[in-house]
Amino acid sequence: MPLVNTTEMFKKAYAGGYAIGAFNVNNMEIVQGITEACGELKAPVILQVSAGARKYANHTYLTKLVEAAVIENPEIPIALHLDHGSSYELCKDCVDGGFTSVMFDGSSKPYEENVEEARKVVQYAHKYNVTVEAELGQLAGIEDEVSVDAEKAHFTDPAQVQDFVTRTGVDSLAIAIGTSHGAYKFKPGQKPQLRFDILKEVSERLPGFPIVLHGASSVIPEFVQQINQFGGAMPDAIGIPEEMLREAAKMAVCKINVDSDLRLAMTASIRKYFAENPSHFDPRQYLAPARTAIKDMVAHKINTVLGCAGKA
Ligand code: G3H
Ligand code: 13P
Ligand code: ZN
Repeated sequence: MPLVNTTEMFKKAYAGGYAIGAFNVNNMEIVQGITEACGELKAPVILQVSAGARKYANHTYLTKLVEAAVIENPEIPIALHLDHGSSYELCKDCVDGGFTSVMFDGSSKPYEENVEEARKVVQYAHKYNVTVEAELGQLAGIEDEVSVDAEKAHFTDPAQVQDFVTRTGVDSLAIAIGTSHGAYKFKPGQKPQLRFDILKEVSERLPGFPIVLHGASSVIPEFVQQINQFGGAMPDAIGIPEEMLREAAKMAVCKINVDSDLRLAMTASIRKYFAENPSHFDPRQYLAPARTAIKDMVAHKINTVLGCAGKA
């Protein structure tokens, strides 16, 4: 099947109490690792591209890699999504360039500006059957070169969600309930917590409306341990516990964003490879196991966190 937007995926995910994985892609091995796992498990998937990824790999290379994944996996729905689009112009560029879904992230702008620009993106994108995600509230961490201090991050107000969705017509919304971007989501000794009360109130105000969780990597401890064992230095890297993500997926969360766990899987594998094979220098030798590490990690998430196996 051709690339799809997120409408059907989210409708089924909401009704079925599961979530779709949205994985950040930056190169061929990442695209292959993710989609091989999804293909084998018959899981729908969102491949997302950040502004940084577009700068690194270039729009054409990334869209063509995703098109290749669509050809190789004809039986699963794949959406190509812009992650954290900071402006109307960037979103329009991606709609024009073949994306089937875009995120307009105006969460750091004044509320009325966020509403206005999101509405403009929706008006344009919907003409081309492209779905639109927006964001309300601010997550701590790094969002595409913009760093948000933990003190400046704030939780989403459910009443504002209702107003925002009604006025903009967005198809899904990212909210801040305690997740954050990157590999250091909680301080050592701090108990990981998510504001499920906010999520519940949002779903009561907007029944059936799909919610997105950014910053939702679990920062899988085995990868952190492997990185540190083979020369890395990532003390105190902590993510969102898997059982919390499972809980969120049963509620209104239909899209779970993962980038850090891909980075960790790849880095842990490559570090181990070089430690054990110091004389090797053919990139295929260390990128093949890195791709397998990504595939295994994505399969694990589909089975234990997302619950979307067999939903294609
Ligand atoms: O939300 C941020 C994603 O992890 C993308 O990161 O902007 O470094 O590609 P990036
Ligand atoms: P992580 O850093 O937790 O993987 O979050 C990724 C993300 O939200 C991409 O938009
Ligand atoms: Zn994000």
